[in-house]
Amino acid sequence: MSNGQNQDQSMFSNTILKWIDDRFPLSSLIREHATDYYASKNFNIWYIFGVLSLVVLVIQLVTGIFLTMSYKPSAKEAFDSVEYIMRSVEWGWLIRYMHSTGSSFFFIVVYLHMFRAMLYGSYKKPRELVWIVGMLIYFCLIAEAFFGYLLPWGNMSYWAAQVIVNLFSAIPFIGETLTEWIRGDYYISDITLNRFFAFHVIAVPLAIIALVFAHILALHHVGSNNPDGIEIKNYKDEQGKPIDGVAFHPYHTSKDLVWITVFLILFFAAVFFAPEMGGFFLEVDNFEPANPLQTPEHIVPPWYLTPYYAILRAIPNKLLGVIFMASSVLFFVFLPWLDKCKVKSIRYRGWQYKLALSCFAISFVVLGYLGMQPATGIYVVLARLFTIVYFLFFLMMPFYTRFEKTKPVPERVVYKK
Ligand code: HEM
Repeated sequence: MSNGQNQDQSMFSNTILKWIDDRFPLSSLIREHATDYYASKNFNIWYIFGVLSLVVLVIQLVTGIFLTMSYKPSAKEAFDSVEYIMRSVEWGWLIRYMHSTGSSFFFIVVYLHMFRAMLYGSYKKPRELVWIVGMLIYFCLIAEAFFGYLLPWGNMSYWAAQVIVNLFSAIPFIGETLTEWIRGDYYISDITLNRFFAFHVIAVPLAIIALVFAHILALHHVGSNNPDGIEIKNYKDEQGKPIDGVAFHPYHTSKDLVWITVFLILFFAAVFFAPEMGGFFLEVDNFEPANPLQTPEHIVPPWYLTPYYAILRAIPNKLLGVIFMASSVLFFVFLPWLDKCKVKSIRYRGWQYKLALSCFAISFVVLGYLGMQPATGIYVVLARLFTIVYFLFFLMMPFYTRFEKTKPVPERVVYKK
């Protein structure tokens, strides 16, 4: 292409851009959120999971739209329509496996994303709202996964929904009525499936999209944290740019693209070679249609909710179990106020927090395993023990974080640790 042609083309695109900018703040949005948004130079691999959550969100939305084109939300047809998608719809198997694998990958990346915040104190001032909005997203993700789990109308879908909806009946006085109201019937039926479908395909995704916008707006308002937990805004050059930061675009975006590629390779390896993942991503009992007369041997929710399920079953009383389970998720919301340590990053924190966080992470994984096992014998004993460890992490936090012996935090970010 000659120089003249190049010039013509850029004049043309500048004219279009000016036309748009006069009517919509496109250039200033791009500047504010990409080319002039400065994030720390020392981001490590933990900082990729936010972007990967966005990638999975898009995968779920796009594959979900295509699944909805052939899925039938009725008790008579739902199971068969999924089989039809798998066998007869062109590329249906790929779309369905991408969606089912996507739900597990969503939780993998979101859990790692949350753990990063706990490593580097990203929930602390001034990012409390980034964290709280993140938690609202997490609650919506749980609801989305729960509603979606019923849709294939397999036997595990049916019974898992039965167990979870029945939990509401433990609430004194209004429990029974509330359970009926949620189901829309005296048992999990066609009506329940219809309303779960409505929530799964429109209500909850809308809420998630709106919350993700709020999450990123709040983050860009205060600026990203980093593995050193230092506010890069405190050290600016003559032009007012943070010395320890680089423009999000093109520097972080080009690095993110590499990790997105690695992620997609892993994701599609699972989609193509292990979509059931040994019963973790697609449960064995769900290959049979829902049968109200035949309870599966062990009713379990999907793997990403089993830590909370283990806590529920560890408590002998139903109402107390529900209260413990609900508070095990809710406690995360209060982390910014439970953690009294002034230092953000684990790199400079005392042994107390390092030990507590390690015990917490171990208890979360072990509870996840126990939630998949039958609630008998040694499994219950272990579940009780690890439930105690889990709750001690939160309940004792105001004490052990207050007396932590921290290391001196450097003034500027460091690149290797
Ligand atoms: C759909 C789910 C989510 C999406 C798409 C998402 C997206 C993002 C993105 C793109 C970032 C900036 C990049 C990064 O720091 O990794 C971010 C930061 C952050 N997210 Fe999320 N997020 C999601 C869920 C959550 C959840 C469940 C939480 C926790 C409750 C959370 C807490 C945070 C925090 C604290 C930051 C700031 C981290 C820092 O600056 O160190 N996010 N999120």
